[in-house]
Amino acid sequence: VTPRSLLNNPVSLVSQEMNTLAKNIVALMGSGHPTLNRVTGYYFEAEGKKVRPMLVLLISRALAEIPLEERNRIKVDYTDVPEDPVYSKPPQSLLFEHPAKNLSPLHILHGIKPLNPLTKGPEPLPQEFDKERGILPKQRRLAEIVEMIHTASLLHDDVIDYSDTRRGRASGNVAFTNKMAVLAGDFLLGRATVSISRLRNPEVVELVSNSIANLVEGEFMQLKNTAIDNDLTTIANGSQKIPPASTKLTNNAHDYRVSVEANGQAPQAMVTTAFEYYLHKTYLKTAALISKSSRAAAILSGAKDPVIEECYNFGKNLGICFQLVDDMLDFTVSAKDLGKPAGADLQLGIATAPVLYAWKEDSSLGPLIQRNFSQPGDVERTAEAVATHDGVSKTRELAHEYRDRALANLRNALPESDARSALEFLTNSIVTRRK
Ligand code: FPP
Ligand code: MG
Ligand code: MG
Repeated sequence: VTPRSLLNNPVSLVSQEMNTLAKNIVALMGSGHPTLNRVTGYYFEAEGKKVRPMLVLLISRALAEIPLEERNRIKVDYTDVPEDPVYSKPPQSLLFEHPAKNLSPLHILHGIKPLNPLTKGPEPLPQEFDKERGILPKQRRLAEIVEMIHTASLLHDDVIDYSDTRRGRASGNVAFTNKMAVLAGDFLLGRATVSISRLRNPEVVELVSNSIANLVEGEFMQLKNTAIDNDLTTIANGSQKIPPASTKLTNNAHDYRVSVEANGQAPQAMVTTAFEYYLHKTYLKTAALISKSSRAAAILSGAKDPVIEECYNFGKNLGICFQLVDDMLDFTVSAKDLGKPAGADLQLGIATAPVLYAWKEDSSLGPLIQRNFSQPGDVERTAEAVATHDGVSKTRELAHEYRDRALANLRNALPESDARSALEFLTNSIVTRRK
């Protein structure tokens, strides 16, 4: 039995894997271009919370406690991740000093060795399953992939949000320019995709790839037609400004409806309440990656369908809880403590849960939300309404509901173990976190 002090530090259960995580990611990201390496590596240098890979590793560890008789033995994926020499050791021809002199498409073609052949069918199960640690090689790689996708999305997010800080220092766009930050995010995503495909598990490939698409859908739902965006679009496109899809709010007593209109045409995909719209956006932009990687970890472990489903729902509920807390901290914690801009959402014109709760009590906020808090005094008036109507504590209560659902999913899916306790601890600490 693990002492309490260890359970209170979930990292300790997977500390070995967390240590190799960073090293392996560096190998997966290696490119032939030194500046690209600097930009892709930038967010990995400053310590992030690494919640996502930690969750994947802990879930994998907890799933290993399910007896093999209760799993689909043939589906337990013990096979190793095929190594690719290109990513761990860039060939000499790619380690160029003088790009113009040394780099040519031919060089790259000849420098890159062919990929390893596909793994052939499932390998025989080992006689004794390593119960001590139990994390499968592909689950480790999954944890690395998830952190790479997340980091790619942060590089892009800081460009989209005009953020100037992240993890207590200059954001990637400020340190290296927008162009490099976007390209580095794309590169990370490209390499993550290679690693996904090399898991050689079609169901997992589909899940994780879909979570990338979900991130973009979530960001798109959040896009605001704000003055600063319009200015930049006008600069980019001259007079030919492409009208973006817009969300229309109608505020009929207790029915807060959102419809999405593309190019001024009638509502297409969505007519829903503002809160449902917000929760769906939150699922896509934050919970999809966590829920789909939790599901993927369960699939790799050979877990049966009901367990896979509970793992998925755990990630979904935890992910929504995580973003609710994030949206709350944007109102309550200083930029210095967050290590990134505070009060950013109102400035960006984005109405999150605290505002939507205030709007329920004070319908006069509707027009301010509709115009993305763009008029002088809008931000201040909304912040006051959030305070008056307890928007923050209502959001915290909702986060607690999602946390409780996530805790129930854990208990339904997994047998009691140190790893499950660590997951419970991590779940609880997500609502009490201050950054
Ligand atoms: C942080 O949210 C951002 C996300 C959770 C997702 C961002 C996704 C994209 C930019 C789509 C592109 C995706 C890829 C994979 C390249 P936030 O801005 O609310 O949080 P913050 O305060 O940490 O900035
Ligand atoms: Mg942001
Ligand atoms: Mg954002």
